[in-house]
Amino acid sequence: MTSEVEVDAVVLVGGRGARLRPLTLSAPKPMLPTAGTPYLSHLFSRISEAGIKHVVLGTSYRAEVFEEYFGDGKALGLELEYVVEDEPLDTGGAIRNVYDRLRAEHVIVFNGDIISGADLSAQLGVHYDSGADVTLHLQRVPDPSRFGSVPTDETGRVQAFLEKTPYPTTDQVNAGCYVFRRQVIESIPTGRRVSVERETFPALLEKGAHLHGFVDASYWLDVGTPEAFVRGSADLVRGIAPTSALPGRAGEFLVLDGASVAEDAELSGGSTIGVAAVVGSGAKIDGSVLFDGAAVSEGAIVENSVLGHGARVGAGAVLRGVVLGDGASVGAGCELLDGARIWPDTVLPDGSVRFSSDA
Ligand code: GTP
Repeated sequence: MTSEVEVDAVVLVGGRGARLRPLTLSAPKPMLPTAGTPYLSHLFSRISEAGIKHVVLGTSYRAEVFEEYFGDGKALGLELEYVVEDEPLDTGGAIRNVYDRLRAEHVIVFNGDIISGADLSAQLGVHYDSGADVTLHLQRVPDPSRFGSVPTDETGRVQAFLEKTPYPTTDQVNAGCYVFRRQVIESIPTGRRVSVERETFPALLEKGAHLHGFVDASYWLDVGTPEAFVRGSADLVRGIAPTSALPGRAGEFLVLDGASVAEDAELSGGSTIGVAAVVGSGAKIDGSVLFDGAAVSEGAIVENSVLGHGARVGAGAVLRGVVLGDGASVGAGCELLDGARIWPDTVLPDGSVRFSSDA
């Protein structure tokens, strides 16, 4: 049996996205332009391709912007509903909070910040065939010591949720996408913060519920940090990460309508140049994301960096692994390296040099 069984989708988009500050001061993480369109557009394209129509967004931080942008979802072939938490309820609390809007017997829940190529129909198929209460997408990763791990037995049944350890016994980690039987969601406590990963799943296992693994090794990236954000965007632009929502053709770079790029500027590494952004003569942009209206002056070098809306980089400046908040301005000849984050509207004068610092 596969996806002919009706299924609802829930997308969790209420997090504050602290690791992506200052970009998330003005927009919630799932709305940040990723390969030229809000990250959520890519996820919606996957959901739609799996034949799922009804999608409920669990929102909290900056709740209003989602509906303002996506409306009722008709343009995407979806039926979107929005549920706002008065206080953030964490992942499990957010899932429980949308329970009244669910219609189908099975519900696929997504973290709103994962880029993945896993086959949703295959995950649903494993869920139906195994008769599980919850089927978790478990991703095989090269370095599982960075995550908690989730071993399964020979039938695919989850055995444990293990804390991070330097020597994990399996390379399977929780990938942030779960199929629930709807009644299981009803059993999550209401009206308080609940972590689905730390509380709900271990408690279900303890009670003898059937938790199953859908183990997969296709593209997967949690875009929660600036480094992952630029990589994810570049992978979408270059066609390494799957999407049908790319506003253009996959290639070494993506230049949105209304951007202006000097003929002798160099764009590479899956960079995106936003609407009305400007790249000056001889500038080099590699593996970076320029939001709408950002400007890079002549001869500047921008690598693996994100430039917020209207941010400016002066002539000959060098930025490597940097986040510039909206409207921030870096003077000519500045050098910023190694994870420096510049807060919105900050002005760094010409020639100032900073390494790895917050300003
Ligand atoms: P950081 O603050 O950088 O850790 O990011 P985050 O707040 O997004 O948290 P995390 O990456 O752990 O969240 C995983 C997913 O759950 C993201 O899609 C979040 O938007 C979502 N999420 C986290 N907390 C809440 C919450 O309280 N309510 C809702 N509705 N979603 C949440």
